[in-house]
Amino acid sequence: MPIAASLDLSVVRSHFPAFDLPAYQGQSFFENAGGSFACRQTIDALHRFYTETKVQPYADYGPSALAGAQMDSSRSRWAQALGVDVDEVQFGPSTSMNTYVLAKAFGEILGPGDEVIVTNQDHEANTGAVRRMAKSVGATLREWRVDRATGVLEGNGLDELLNERTRLVCFPHCSNIVGQQNPATEWTAAAHAVGARVIVDGVSYAPHGLPDVAEMGADVYLFSLYKVYSVHQGLMVTANGIVDELPNQGHGFNAELASKRLTPAGPDHAQEAAAGAVLDYVSALYVAHGGDAKASLRDQAAGVTTLWQDHETRLVEPVLSWLEDHDGVRLIGPARADDQSQHRCPTVAFTPRALAPADVAAGLVDRGIMCGHGDFYAGRLLEGVDVDANSGVVRVSWVHYTDQSDIDRLLGALQDTLGS
Ligand SMILES: Cc1ncc(COP(=O)(O)O)c(C=O)c1O
Repeated sequence: MPIAASLDLSVVRSHFPAFDLPAYQGQSFFENAGGSFACRQTIDALHRFYTETKVQPYADYGPSALAGAQMDSSRSRWAQALGVDVDEVQFGPSTSMNTYVLAKAFGEILGPGDEVIVTNQDHEANTGAVRRMAKSVGATLREWRVDRATGVLEGNGLDELLNERTRLVCFPHCSNIVGQQNPATEWTAAAHAVGARVIVDGVSYAPHGLPDVAEMGADVYLFSLYKVYSVHQGLMVTANGIVDELPNQGHGFNAELASKRLTPAGPDHAQEAAAGAVLDYVSALYVAHGGDAKASLRDQAAGVTTLWQDHETRLVEPVLSWLEDHDGVRLIGPARADDQSQHRCPTVAFTPRALAPADVAAGLVDRGIMCGHGDFYAGRLLEGVDVDANSGVVRVSWVHYTDQSDIDRLLGALQDTLGS
């Protein structure tokens, strides 16, 4: 993968129309963990579908056949980018909806005597429905808890909970508060060693890197495309035969179709057809940075991930240091990754010691920092690190299209709002 040493932000930003809009001038977008800007390729593909092929897909007439072909292409391109088989890629309305259906399906095969492990680091989407399912079928629920001081999940916590009765383990690839990438490959292997199935919530990781899901080995890997510069859909990889093991949740007549068994809602044709366009952006970036246009999509995704993460690491370090050194705030999550093989995603949450998070967020917004405050649907995690979930945290989150001038604006706004 011969690719440039650093990301060219002028190339990156030329693919995002939002940066040219008057409404965004003089401000910096720091709420990317809530949802990213869409790249031009995504917007064009959606527009094209609605303009040219907005008909029932998969019939023989021209526009219909084209609509179906675009939907198939999204699926196969995402499969290539994630290193998995085409029939392992499923699209659903959202990650919350996908996990809800998964929990319902697991509820039909689990019962008393079975054990399920969830974490308190997860966003509610990857834990609430599973907890309710375990309770309703009489399975034993085990909670793998974060370290109170750091918010980090430690692998030995999982080892203590795993046993031959464990049937399902759910954890995040990265928390939407703590920002630290978890060693998903290692934890998946530990769960598989006792015969358990593994669901990994990749929502907070995928905007920062497109993983090789086959190499990771997870049985289910989920993320939300609307946070990955794409459309408002949830993408779910279902691997290792789990689609056949779980009872069909779709229409009865679709029971034999892998792509329908765990996604009962009819597909959003336009969004599915446009879902693959973000990979054209990934390819364009790869080539613009010296990569070979003929490289596989998997190699392109890996090369671009390295560029994104190197850039993000350069920008996150000064912000983490500033917050860590400031007596008036508590940084939630590690200031830097102990294990350098794991990315410290630039999702940075903190609590001001003497001010309300709402007031600090308002102060930042007044200074051109588009950010938010609250529990970000991770109330269990906040309680797990002794933060009042009702007042919550301030969160600033960014991605690879954020540049040094945004970070300068953020540091200035933090200084003004919180003092030295
Ligand atoms: C870590 C994480 N998991 C899951 C979700 C739920 O995703 P969706 O909005 O697609 O249901 C979110 C949404 O913010 C999230 O941050």
